[in-house]
Amino acid sequence: MNHLLHLGLQLLAYVYFNAVHVAFTVLNYLYPRHIVPRPTNRILFLSATKLAEKIRNGELKCAEVISAYITRIEEVNPIINAMVYPNFDNARKEAEAVDRYLSGLEKNSDEYENLAKTKPILGVPFTLKDIIKVKGMNCSMGVPARANYIADEDAAYVKQLKDAGGIVLGLTNVPELAMWMETNNHLHGLTNNPYDSRRTPGGSSGGEGALIAAAGSVIGIGSDIGGSIRMPSFFSGIFGFKNTQFLIDRKGHEPEGFASGGLRNEMFVVGPMCRYIEDIPLMMKIGNPEKCEKMKLDEPVDLSKVRLYFMEGIDSLVMEPLHCDILAKLREAIRYLETDCQMTSFKVDFSEMKSGFGFWVTDLEAPECPSFATLATDFHGDANFLAEFGKCLIGRSDHTMAVIIGGLIEQYSIHSDDRKKELRRIHEKMRTELHALLEKNAVLLFPGFSYPAPYHHQALWTGCNIAYTSIFNSMGLPSFAVPTGLNKNGLPTGVQIVGAPNNDALLLAVGKKLDKAFGGWTAPGLSVC
Ligand SMILES: *[C@@H]1O[C@H](CO)[C@@H](O)[C@H](O)[C@H]1NC(C)=O
Repeated sequence: MNHLLHLGLQLLAYVYFNAVHVAFTVLNYLYPRHIVPRPTNRILFLSATKLAEKIRNGELKCAEVISAYITRIEEVNPIINAMVYPNFDNARKEAEAVDRYLSGLEKNSDEYENLAKTKPILGVPFTLKDIIKVKGMNCSMGVPARANYIADEDAAYVKQLKDAGGIVLGLTNVPELAMWMETNNHLHGLTNNPYDSRRTPGGSSGGEGALIAAAGSVIGIGSDIGGSIRMPSFFSGIFGFKNTQFLIDRKGHEPEGFASGGLRNEMFVVGPMCRYIEDIPLMMKIGNPEKCEKMKLDEPVDLSKVRLYFMEGIDSLVMEPLHCDILAKLREAIRYLETDCQMTSFKVDFSEMKSGFGFWVTDLEAPECPSFATLATDFHGDANFLAEFGKCLIGRSDHTMAVIIGGLIEQYSIHSDDRKKELRRIHEKMRTELHALLEKNAVLLFPGFSYPAPYHHQALWTGCNIAYTSIFNSMGLPSFAVPTGLNKNGLPTGVQIVGAPNNDALLLAVGKKLDKAFGGWTAPGLSVC
């Protein structure tokens, strides 16, 4: 009987996910697919590492670099709506100051000799999410009630990047409160995927992912409590590094107090997103030089001694089955690591992951932190999400459906206390096993997500898919999103490389191999059918 019931539910899940898929495909057939034009300026194809080198040695003027990026943003932003607060005038002024400073600097002085150390990204532009503070700029978090907020200081990591010579180009769009995987809010609107404007670039660092992939930025800051760095990186085909907890200082990431309690504190990471893998150690070292030195972030690793575990997706009634293109890329990556790096692979199957969404929802509970209802009004009373739900259905709410549903889940809790206890027990058991497995010089290769970028609003119907990334926040493990090229529809694919805490160097070493195998970021704008 139990078996029959399970079969019935499986059939129901199959029908449901296919119906959602068909419905959105048919609806979107009516809309044109826009792809951002292929970048042509050579400057846009240089990593931050190379840009810094060329600016230092005088091969490139900083003003040229900034101007190339501003021109590119002006070209792509009408299509993707990724940048919401440009900082162009200030960036141009700062660039002129950098050029003046460099032309006045004696080439055989100690100051010049040490420049690569003291100011490793001198003159390099960067972008960041509109939820991280930059002194004197807006920081709206996609919340209409925050439209007039101006930050009075730089966030810790922003200050470090500025001190290292970086120049803020502007802030990029986030979902309302950065709380969902669809970058949409009623202040700045919907952000589009650069490879197909009918699709989402994911979230919550969705504006960041879209702009970087569109070659409108070279490096950026994202943050991740459930996949917010990795999912947009996957949907737009760039690198996103959810590093080991507490490596990068999160001070100045709004909303204040959001991750001050409960497990949130341990799940929430700020980290780099970029098009060129060599920029990840560069950005990490600026964020935490001492720890990165200790972790030997840049040194080669003998991968033949590293165990390669892999898992072919999550088998769950509430999640979409793994897309065949993503599975094929995962297998291709494993084959490459076995043949080229003499790694030995072992298939694992943590069936507990089918409760991944449940883990995450319970992990996020933190009564001591301000509630979504309070944050959604920017501390001007509590939003009434039941009323907002009705208003949203007729297009009259200031809030997005994602925040309303999220707020209702927080308020009413979808699990009984007994179920929560059970979830915590399985969670702890799995966490112990997974840590033990990975602590012995091993990595876990995992699909980047269950599906390539979905159409706008589709994710709301397949919300539990988020467990593909949130599971590694729940488990407290660093995870590296690495692109594996476009599929036959011209959409990005990717894998996650997961490791034990403080094994960031190992994740980077495996990532470098996969970068070689798959070619890293693929510029958008090649014609596809
Ligand atoms: C940014 O903040 C300023 C100052 O409060 C405000 O006038 C402006 O409208 C804000 N910009 C947007 C796009 O919300």
